[in-house]
Amino acid sequence: MILEIGIIGCGLMGQQHAEGYRAAPDLAAVRVCCDDRADSARDLAQRLGSDVTATTDWQAVLDDPAIAAVSICVPHHLHAPVVQAALDAGKHVLLEKPMALNLAEARTLVAAAERAGKVFMVAQNQRFLPEHTHIKTLLDDGVIGSIFAARVDGNQMLSRIYPPGHWLFSQATAGGGVIRTTAIHKFDLLRYLVGEIRRVSAFMKISGLNPGMDCDDVAAISLEFDNGAIGEAFFTFAAHRVPIPTATGELTVLYGDQGMLHNVGGWQVYSQVDERYSSGLTDLGLPNADYALSFRNEVRHFLECIATGREPLSSGHDNLRTMAVIEAIYESIEQGCAVAVEAE
Ligand SMILES: NC(=O)c1ccc[n+]([C@@H]2O[C@H](COP(=O)([O-])OP(=O)(O)OC[C@H]3O[C@@H](n4cnc5c(N)ncnc54)[C@H](O)[C@@H]3O)[C@@H](O)[C@H]2O)c1
Repeated sequence: MILEIGIIGCGLMGQQHAEGYRAAPDLAAVRVCCDDRADSARDLAQRLGSDVTATTDWQAVLDDPAIAAVSICVPHHLHAPVVQAALDAGKHVLLEKPMALNLAEARTLVAAAERAGKVFMVAQNQRFLPEHTHIKTLLDDGVIGSIFAARVDGNQMLSRIYPPGHWLFSQATAGGGVIRTTAIHKFDLLRYLVGEIRRVSAFMKISGLNPGMDCDDVAAISLEFDNGAIGEAFFTFAAHRVPIPTATGELTVLYGDQGMLHNVGGWQVYSQVDERYSSGLTDLGLPNADYALSFRNEVRHFLECIATGREPLSSGHDNLRTMAVIEAIYESIEQGCAVAVEAE
């Protein structure tokens, strides 16, 4: 069966989701594009085909009984009201990260999805990058043994990506800065690759390099995992240049008791237990940061979960723990001490 889809929010990510559906014609077809900027909705609808309509009213999308599922790609402060209304209207929901402005809102949405019996997935696309899928298999096979430490790093300049005054510069509309918007990707990935995070200790700054930004654009965070591993994360939206040779200015290093994995200059592995990788650091020859493909994989996974009734890899329920990590980080900054992550 071909599911009819509505896209709510036709900016950067709405367009990526639309490409994801276009790449899955066996499962879905976008029928309506919605954006409060009429030109954005119309442009995307026209790009997708003559039978795709445009609207500025997201409630009208939800009121249409033909629409089975929606992608929600609006500013963060609108996530909770739009998702809640979509679930109440009986739609399956693929929601851009972060799930909500805070953990309390996120819990309400997960409960609403459970009541509605609909698929509710958070678009944590890092889990759907082919290289991360491959790394997960290597880790599950014990190639680097047990992980005792991890480092992640992210370097961007927000004002080069979005115009001044964009909603991502404001605490009120984004619910936080680089931590809630970008570092969340890597905390979700670390949960997936290393295990649950149980304690955090964090510092943040507002650099002044992103005009008008009133929330964190530099953050340094220490982590402790349930399995005893420790970790370090550094994220900034205020990097003039990328300081490490990775495709996206993002670093991931995993230290195991039998080897290590990192993505500097492409994904490399060293292993004392797998002879394919035992002569030194070995380039895995993996694709590096093909984000367009991650969005397509993520949308297909969402559609397959609807078709099969399977729980998504990054379901709302799973994502509560990622949201709890973010909540604990902001609490740690506020209190000036280490804080336990409390998902339940
Ligand atoms: N996964 C990733 O790599 C990634 C990258 C960037 C952004 N994101 C996430 O995607 C989401 C959207 O971010 P973006 O970069 O696309 O932002 P954006 O500003 O480019 O797009 C947001 C769109 O929502 C529209 N909008 C605002 N209010 C609306 C309303 N009431 N009704 C309908 N449309 C409305 C805006 O006009 C805009 O077109 C955010 O949650 C963000 O964190 C994810």
